[in-house]
Amino acid sequence: MSISQEALDDLARRGAAQGVDPAPGLALVERHLRTRVASDLPFVEDAARYLIDAGGKRFRPMLLLLTGMLGGKEPVSPDLVSAGVIVELVHLSTLYHDDVIDAAEVRRGTPAAHVKWSNTVAILTGDFLLARASELSAELGVEVTRLMARTIADLCQGQIREVQGSQLGERHGAAGTDGDRQHYLRVVEEKTASLISASTRLGAMLAGMPPPAVEALTAYGRALGMAFQLSDDILDIMGDPSDSGKVPGTDLREGVRTLPTLLALERDGLGSQLARLLGAAADGEDAGVVGEALALLRAHPALPLARDAARFEADRAKQVLRHIARTPETIVVLDGLDALADYAVSRVG
Ligand code: IPE
Ligand code: IPE
Ligand code: MG
Ligand code: MG
Repeated sequence: MSISQEALDDLARRGAAQGVDPAPGLALVERHLRTRVASDLPFVEDAARYLIDAGGKRFRPMLLLLTGMLGGKEPVSPDLVSAGVIVELVHLSTLYHDDVIDAAEVRRGTPAAHVKWSNTVAILTGDFLLARASELSAELGVEVTRLMARTIADLCQGQIREVQGSQLGERHGAAGTDGDRQHYLRVVEEKTASLISASTRLGAMLAGMPPPAVEALTAYGRALGMAFQLSDDILDIMGDPSDSGKVPGTDLREGVRTLPTLLALERDGLGSQLARLLGAAADGEDAGVVGEALALLRAHPALPLARDAARFEADRAKQVLRHIARTPETIVVLDGLDALADYAVSRVG
């Protein structure tokens, strides 16, 4: 479940000579994540540490530290490390909440928090993590606090838009139209790309990079975030639970229309076998129906098209990076960010 080890090893090897290695910063993020969720009520601390200890890729802190290194700042600068902790805490809180919303049973290869305890515990633990993130943001100043507050609002809005969209789709009995795709992309931008672009923006801001570079790295994060979620939605269909740590078909069970299903419905039509299976899967008819829908989708020509869309966003992310000057100091990090864009598309977990 870790970020492409090959890309990381390459970065560490090439960066060693110039002191470009995010590993020490990431180790500090790891340590502070745990101390920041301390509580005088041991159960709260246990519940908050539960998903931290379960693993995860730490993709957002990694991006933040790397982006911060472009500014020539030490990767272990305390502000960058704190910001890495903030983005991972916010991400974690969304995972606690998201699994309640999606009725997802497994997260990071372990029972979801609401399954282990209850919805109440999962929701309040998510809120606790958000509060801890906000406290740390305040230590970094008004600008960081404002950016994080806006990002959290975007995240919530995206999750609400997603839930609303699936209800509207059912009411109109339509799917796979242009409007549906636009709605889907808007959801992806809000619920996922917002936090990933906030991570690269924070890295650039805290490293004191000039405004055009901050904007370029924000745009890089946004396109990368789109690719990341597009590929997550493909993994919900194609993924292996032992790699993803999640149960495939969760989006189908929840009636969430992601790009692969929208494209497949567009092709097959609303009277098709696929449409019938998707309807039955969302109505919770039986587990076999989800399996049948998954089997149909796995072999569907819509899947390569969805992959193309993820690739398109990753390439867009890489293009934006070209706005950052390639100097002997930045070249290794820029190559690392390039590799992370490829990773967002090819990842299996
Ligand atoms: C899962 O994010 C939620 C999405 C936005 C797709 P990650 O895939 O980064 O999850 P972890 O942190 O590695 O568990
Ligand atoms: C939700 O998207 C992303 C968040 C903001 C948490 P998903 O519902 O597809 O994420 P997973 O698949 O549960 O990780
Ligand atoms: Mg989910
Ligand atoms: Mg998903």
